[in-house]
Amino acid sequence: MDVLALTGDGIGPEVMASALTVVGELDLGWNVDLRPDVNSSTWLETGSALPDDLIRDIQGGAYGAILFGAVGDPRAPEGVVERHILLRLRFVLDLGLNIRPLRLPRGVSSPLASGARIDAVVVRENTEGAYSGLGGLMRSGQPMETAVTVSVTTRFGVERALRHAVSLAERRSGRLTLVHKANVLQDEGGLWRRVAEEVASGIPGVTLSYQHADLAAMRLMLDPESYDVIVTDNLFGDLLTDLGAGLSGGIGLAPSANINPASGLALFEPVHGSAPDIAGRGVANPLAMIRCVGLAAEHVGQAGAAAVIEAATDAVAVDTDRRSTAEITDAVLAALSFDRQIV
Ligand code: IPM
Ligand code: MG
Repeated sequence: MDVLALTGDGIGPEVMASALTVVGELDLGWNVDLRPDVNSSTWLETGSALPDDLIRDIQGGAYGAILFGAVGDPRAPEGVVERHILLRLRFVLDLGLNIRPLRLPRGVSSPLASGARIDAVVVRENTEGAYSGLGGLMRSGQPMETAVTVSVTTRFGVERALRHAVSLAERRSGRLTLVHKANVLQDEGGLWRRVAEEVASGIPGVTLSYQHADLAAMRLMLDPESYDVIVTDNLFGDLLTDLGAGLSGGIGLAPSANINPASGLALFEPVHGSAPDIAGRGVANPLAMIRCVGLAAEHVGQAGAAAVIEAATDAVAVDTDRRSTAEITDAVLAALSFDRQIV
């Protein structure tokens, strides 16, 4: 299988190098096409960084999976390269689901005084909401300067996210929580609520409940154990998954899968950003990127490899403080060979 590796900005290249060491170690049979140039530096030099022919190759099925490091560079205008690279990939490839597991590994302590554990999955709608890109700025620089961002919610997008969330809930505990803000965003929230009831009703073993996003943010902190599958819109999902990552061993551990359930196309990226403040220092935690390899392996049917990666990264997550990227990578490689011996 050919795999496209887009390293991106900041710590992206460092965590990608670590993850690709794991790919090599496990003999996954992946032929990695490494593209270090799809990043902000290229955009700053040429005004473009994601070539159309690369997008066409991806759409034509050239790659079984895409690994993505991180995007974001303080030298570029805020948000422009993010939209040019990552959001464009999500939109053009119609990666409508962003699946973000939130699981505190055993042995890693909770940041909560209660010590409460979390083992949940967020299904974040990934191509709509406030991320639509629709809107604009008028009377720029004038006293009456006005900015508009249009949030878009379609029955198609909502139903796609809900169908996936319901099937996940069926395979897990059956507890499905829809998070929105229907008391203010009545039209979009109302659509989510109606479609959720349609999709979840009559599915044996699945119990659907609804929470406003503000309450959900608080409850995620106070009672994380009450959640199993959370389904939500794009912006709420973005916020809740950083909060959730903080509860699950830190942002350095959290992977995500951007999936087009119709075509099977998928891009795997850590929840964390490009961390320009620590870039190039060899101290970035590569575990989230390594876990992305696990999610990708699972997605393409290599469940054994996925399980081994999960176990190895869990074991190493117990003690990553003050460890360098190289030390964490070596510890994962050691844990992998130990696991494979047992297998
Ligand atoms: C994420 C990131 C992105 C998002 C940024 C980099 C555009 O925060 O994947 O969660 O907002 O979706
Ligand atoms: Mg985010």
